[in-house]
Amino acid sequence: MKTLGIETSCDETAVAVLEADGAVAVNLVSSQAAAHAPYLGVVPELAARHHLEALPRLLAEAHRRADLDSVELLAVTRGPGLIGSLLVGTCFAGAYAWARGLPVVGVDHLEGHLVSPFISLDGTPARPIPERAITLVVSGGHSSYFLLDHGVSRPLNRTRDDAAGEVFDKVAAALGLGYPGGPVVDRLAEEGDPGRHSFTPPRIKDPAGALDFSFSGLKTMAIRTAQEGGLVPLPDPAAPPQEALDLLASFRRTVADWLLQPLDELVARHRPQVVAASGGVAANRELRRRLAAWGEATGVEVVLPPVALTTDNAAMIARAGQLRALGGELDDPRSLRAYPRATWKGSKVV
Ligand code: KG4
Ligand code: ZN
Repeated sequence: MKTLGIETSCDETAVAVLEADGAVAVNLVSSQAAAHAPYLGVVPELAARHHLEALPRLLAEAHRRADLDSVELLAVTRGPGLIGSLLVGTCFAGAYAWARGLPVVGVDHLEGHLVSPFISLDGTPARPIPERAITLVVSGGHSSYFLLDHGVSRPLNRTRDDAAGEVFDKVAAALGLGYPGGPVVDRLAEEGDPGRHSFTPPRIKDPAGALDFSFSGLKTMAIRTAQEGGLVPLPDPAAPPQEALDLLASFRRTVADWLLQPLDELVARHRPQVVAASGGVAANRELRRRLAAWGEATGVEVVLPPVALTTDNAAMIARAGQLRALGGELDDPRSLRAYPRATWKGSKVV
């Protein structure tokens, strides 16, 4: 079914149109980053108001670029995320679907990230979800490996504290590099020495959590090292000194080290055909290079989404919605519920 996707869970307003085979016809994202940057984080009330303004504008633009009259399905993010923002998207989608007599399907945001490695932006159809895949979902709110097994997903580990994207944002904020921090840290780290600092890995005592992540210790160590070096905040964030570049490169390398650390064990246990990554942190150049090198060394196929589909977008929501609808899971547009917290512990995706 040709699908219109809508995503408003956080600070990106996004609208996409996918052909029935999952080929992306339109992918529009309006970022609110500039509106939230002065606060070094997302202000929920501001986010909801921006979605209210941006959504009709993006829909009009999608209408100019594609034939919306032939759309057969509406897919919308219903959680987790900021409740005011989610309500803008779900109310809008419910009203649109009701007015046009279209079926609607509510999608979990994480499920969108999970299917994103299997869509492309070059007009080709979406790739079928492999029977067995391991996907690392790394964003501002999540850091977990998931197993996708014959269309059913389940988490294989989790973070005990901060998400990987969150520590990029917090370290960047401490240095005065603005929000969101991941892209700027990634860019600056390219010019630094990743071997300059080493950070002590976390020790998780609970044997059941041996493969879990923990990033808050790294955040504290990186910020303390920056403080000791007189880098908090940077006197001129536009021209950071070499010590700052080295610190950021070492920090970024460590995040990649720790994210990849459980992979061999998980692959040995679950024998996936494919290893994939998604979420904003999957845009990280170091992580992408390291995953590609891991794939070459092990012979396991590594699939990464186009960088534009790593951060929040509606193409992934539309695709996850299509797969749900194929499984017959439709929602009533009059009672589409939004939920703020992650209730999803894995479910049927295909
Ligand atoms: O998936 P996403 O757009 O939103 C959530 O669902 O959270 O991810 C946003 C997160 C932010 O923390 C941002 O700093 C991080 O992804 N991020 C990056 C990069 N690009 C975005 N982190 C590291 N390197 C990047 N290149
Ligand atoms: Zn996301």
